[in-house]
Amino acid sequence: MAAFRRLHAERFGGVDYAVAPFIPLVAGARVMPKLLADVLPEACGAVRTVPQVIGKDPAALRVMAQALQDLGYAEMNLNCGCPWKMVARKGRGSGLPENEDDFLRMLEAGCEAMPDGFSIKIRLGMKTKDTLARLAPRIAEHPLKEIAVHPRTGVQMYEGDVDLDAFAAVLPILPMPVVYNGDVRTLADYARIVVRFPGLAGVMIGRGLVADPALGESIRVWEDGGRGEVKTPPRDPARVAAFAAELYATYRATLCGPSPVLGRMKELWGHLHVYFEDGPARLRAVQRSRSFADYERAVNGLGTSAIR
Ligand SMILES: Cc1cc2nc3c(=O)[nH]c(=O)nc-3n(C[C@H](O)[C@H](O)[C@H](O)COP(=O)(O)O)c2cc1C
Repeated sequence: MAAFRRLHAERFGGVDYAVAPFIPLVAGARVMPKLLADVLPEACGAVRTVPQVIGKDPAALRVMAQALQDLGYAEMNLNCGCPWKMVARKGRGSGLPENEDDFLRMLEAGCEAMPDGFSIKIRLGMKTKDTLARLAPRIAEHPLKEIAVHPRTGVQMYEGDVDLDAFAAVLPILPMPVVYNGDVRTLADYARIVVRFPGLAGVMIGRGLVADPALGESIRVWEDGGRGEVKTPPRDPARVAAFAAELYATYRATLCGPSPVLGRMKELWGHLHVYFEDGPARLRAVQRSRSFADYERAVNGLGTSAIR
């Protein structure tokens, strides 16, 4: 969500760019404006935002590229990794690379429609780990700006081990900048990845940055300090609580009614609760909340609870 990305950049930072949640590609000569709401530049704030799309129709990809260019974007990312069954079994997300012809047509269309700014995000495969390795020489023929690899299969969803050896095996076949993604939750996790893979163009962080909004900042300090000793910085729950409160206020001001606001806050707390000593109890109370008053009671006193 744009509000999270914008506020995170304002209050924490440490992020070079943010990939926005995927926008579905829909056939037609125009993109419905509501699909672009989350990437409107005024909603995104100062953080560089890369819009992401999902689908398998090259014509729709071209139409989307034009719509994004009209908004001022020179970049677009194609999601080839979403593991949700409803998406993958239609040949989208992690299902797309399983159909080599569809996949290559999308790469071609994307590179043409968004020259020098087209990137993809991909897993090792949907059911097995060999799809990316098999496709890598073909991917290498396309001038992608970047490829982000999440070294799991689609059926693993977001659980089980990431396969760093399989990631290492595809690296030499991919000539474009490669970004690693998966299970980076601490500075130590980040350090392990960049030390093992020194040629990486970057590390993409999802859940880790939601659970610890200051993670990007600590990574930046470590990088700027010449990658010295890896020390876990002290946590600042009051700062995180203030961030959650600001996000809540922004959602209340921009979304309609309790459901969308509480839905987003419940999802946020599913990650954020680990920050607080009484996190599990707070999470339960947040998840039970049906009204703004319930929610506010649940998080009342945040920032004063002891740190984990
Ligand atoms: C609820 C949820 C929604 C996600 N939505 C997207 C998405 O729209 N686009 C995307 O590229 N990845 C999406 N992801 C995947 C994350 O970006 C990331 O690849 C994944 O969580 C693994 O990285 P992490 O261990 O750093 O979280 C989503 C993950 C979750 C759990």
